[in-house]
Amino acid sequence: MTPGDPAGVAHLYVHLPFCAARCGYCAFVVEVGREDARDAYLGAVRAEIRRADYLRGPLESVYLGGGTPTLMGAGRLRALLDDIRPRCAPGAEVTVEANPETVDAALVAALADAGATRVSLGAQSTRDHLLAALDRRCGPDQVRRAVDAVREDGRLRLSLDLMLGVPGQDGGDLAADLEWVLAARPEHVSWYELEFKEGSAIARGGAVAPDEDHAADLYEQAIAGLEGAGYRWYELANFALPGGECRHSLAYWHARDYVGVGVGAVSTVGARRWRNAPGLDRYIAALEAGEDPPRTVEQRDADVRRRERWMLGTRLDEPLDMAWAGPVDHPDALERLAGRGLLQRHAGTVRLTRRGRLLQNAVVQEILDFA
Ligand SMILES: C[S@@+](CC[C@H](N)C(=O)[O-])C[C@H]1O[C@@H](n2cnc3c(N)ncnc32)[C@H](O)[C@@H]1O
Ligand code: SF4
Repeated sequence: MTPGDPAGVAHLYVHLPFCAARCGYCAFVVEVGREDARDAYLGAVRAEIRRADYLRGPLESVYLGGGTPTLMGAGRLRALLDDIRPRCAPGAEVTVEANPETVDAALVAALADAGATRVSLGAQSTRDHLLAALDRRCGPDQVRRAVDAVREDGRLRLSLDLMLGVPGQDGGDLAADLEWVLAARPEHVSWYELEFKEGSAIARGGAVAPDEDHAADLYEQAIAGLEGAGYRWYELANFALPGGECRHSLAYWHARDYVGVGVGAVSTVGARRWRNAPGLDRYIAALEAGEDPPRTVEQRDADVRRRERWMLGTRLDEPLDMAWAGPVDHPDALERLAGRGLLQRHAGTVRLTRRGRLLQNAVVQEILDFA
């Protein structure tokens, strides 16, 4: 596949925005109390996929994200996957994001029967007080039951989302979550630092982000625990058992082209990036009228794309090919950072050291100019 080749877009994201309630930390495009619109939305998403003429080539990865995709219900997810499956290359990765309280044996079986290969479960924590601080509706038992349901069926790979830097979280909490994760032994773990996103209830309520050093300690504790158990720390917030890396996310970090459909979804094809507007009703109405959904289009120049390749590529543990990524704005900074043990250069590639990855943001600020 050649990036920018419209025939070659191999990665499809589908945004399924319905949620039972909005969690206090979440700023994603989410629709609460609109389950009545699920059939119309399904029809609109299927129509947008049919219109997406960039999706001619076989898909290597598909990601149904949200929102809470599993709130669509097994029948609608099956219908959607029935449309998508014929577009997939043999062995394609097909992930469905799920909230623990929506997962039971029947749903897992339906997803696997419909061609899903992987489920990404938003566990966040098993600690009662942290789930409460995050405003989550499910308790630790539901998280455990969801994992059991996936494991008992046995056909789907499991990814777990965890959170660190939650107000009130200490090293003991992180150790308890780690112990639980290692017992579940998912093929993949995303361990995100809680972001206090503008507009989220947690940010509006004045909750204070934990001290940076404390969050860094928790991060290092998670990395050490997972690496000690055989996980590869392959991206700043992501870990995998051998072969368990998320191919869809890797496509983003490798700056490949992708198409996103659904409200709020983003697509990038060559120099063009477009973003569907939020707003369920407008989205459905446009597609029912046989039109593209309302969206904004951005033309990204070569400099923007070059900087993005560096920002994304240095998140990974793989060497970044400088001929592919393009020149940095401050080549002298590469020498300086290498001297400080933050990156290594080898045969035309750059790779951040472990310490460099912990400071990736600062490293990127030294080598690139930002507007
Ligand atoms: C788009 S959400 C959807 C997942 C699913 N609805 C759920 O809540 O389980 C995917 C993941 O993003 C992470 N996330 C969401 N908001 C976040 C925030 N403010 N800071 C850090 N991670 C966040 C959570 O770990 C969540 O599981
Ligand atoms: S975190 Fe997940 S469940 Fe909560 S509002 Fe956001 S998308 Fe919905």
